[in-house]
Amino acid sequence: MTAHDAISIIRAKRDGGELSDEQIDWAIDAFTRGAMADEQMSALAMAIVLRGMNRRETARWTRAMIDSGRRLDFTDLPRPTVDKHSTGGVGDKVTLPLAPLVAACGAAVPQLSGRGLGYTGGTLDKLESIPGWRADISPDRMREILSDPATGAVVCAAGADLAPADKRLYALRDTTGTVESIPLIASSIMSKKIAEGTAALVLDVKVGAGAFMPTRDEAHTLATTMVELGADAGVHTVALLTAMDTPLGRTAGNALEVAEAVEVLAGGGPADLVELTLALAREMVALAGLHTDPAQALTDGRAMDHWRSMIRAQGGDPEAPLPVAKHTETLSAPATGTLTGLDARAVGVAAWRLGAGRARQGDPVQAGAGIRLHATVGDRVKAGSPLLTLHTDTPDVLPAAVEALAAAVTISPNSPEHDRGGPLILDRVGPG
Ligand code: URA
Repeated sequence: MTAHDAISIIRAKRDGGELSDEQIDWAIDAFTRGAMADEQMSALAMAIVLRGMNRRETARWTRAMIDSGRRLDFTDLPRPTVDKHSTGGVGDKVTLPLAPLVAACGAAVPQLSGRGLGYTGGTLDKLESIPGWRADISPDRMREILSDPATGAVVCAAGADLAPADKRLYALRDTTGTVESIPLIASSIMSKKIAEGTAALVLDVKVGAGAFMPTRDEAHTLATTMVELGADAGVHTVALLTAMDTPLGRTAGNALEVAEAVEVLAGGGPADLVELTLALAREMVALAGLHTDPAQALTDGRAMDHWRSMIRAQGGDPEAPLPVAKHTETLSAPATGTLTGLDARAVGVAAWRLGAGRARQGDPVQAGAGIRLHATVGDRVKAGSPLLTLHTDTPDVLPAAVEALAAAVTISPNSPEHDRGGPLILDRVGPG
């Protein structure tokens, strides 16, 4: 095929046609090599946003993105590999307790993760608040850590050679209004997860105001598409749909979330965070064909031992004090009653404005910035009692963060105390 064919591929999709395997392979390969211009790929992405792709096209698109780079292979490890991916939510620090917990149950957890962009934080940003901890690990070092039964879990940055087509395409989609397409989102996420070499995968697809997918129907379609892509690539995949209307746990921010994850590993922590961590761990352990009870590994300290070992393996000091922000401001409850709404998106935007997140790739983040919730949905609160504490190194951003929270809180004077405002785990997609 020649560069001229880019136009016929764009036209075919624009007019509602199906792309052939050869057309998809050519487009992804040419784009990766620089032989298909950014504006042509942007036009094709927009045609896909508007016209969609069927299962065959989406599977082929995913495979072509995997084939644009290196595919890691851990099939020779002595333990089964299993990973988790979350579509991102406010206060979602589940990977931190989950990876060592599942490793403590006998699996190897190879997690290539990302830095945050926008108001949902990135796992690497959180871990980087631990003094000395490094995200850049070579594939050989990754294999060594995964093979060590006392550790068994790695959370690290994806190398530039892992699905490079997706890296370029995601950056382009971000600036051309072409992120919102289920086949493009599903293939983007799954190409990276399949290329990282895991044999099994559990997806946490968030639904609600603080999530990428605001409605349950859209989240279900995304989950089904990703589970099918996993199956097509020989990766056993299950998805849980989980609620993201309220922040998960009681913190949003980097070091604040690490501290909360450590509370979970010590057998405490907020009930919703523990519930979700255990639900995902059970799915991962089952997919790995293991028979250990994750709840037991959490309470008897094995998960904490694996956490310490995992942090040390990447240069971190698990005993070192975590960074704290230079300034705090506490907002009080404006009325007495039951907290019936705490908008995850508003909390995420406020934490981001405080310095916990970045606006552009490569910007620094503040380790200590973020928000601590003193109450969550369902709790009784008293007028004037502390509701949220904002943390930042740069106090000039406090007014903007407070403004983001202006309509975030709903207090109902006559509503009784209740449980979190609804179930956390909404649905499951996958075999079994
Ligand atoms: N996350 C990804 O990795 N890709 C998308 O397209 C959307 C979210």
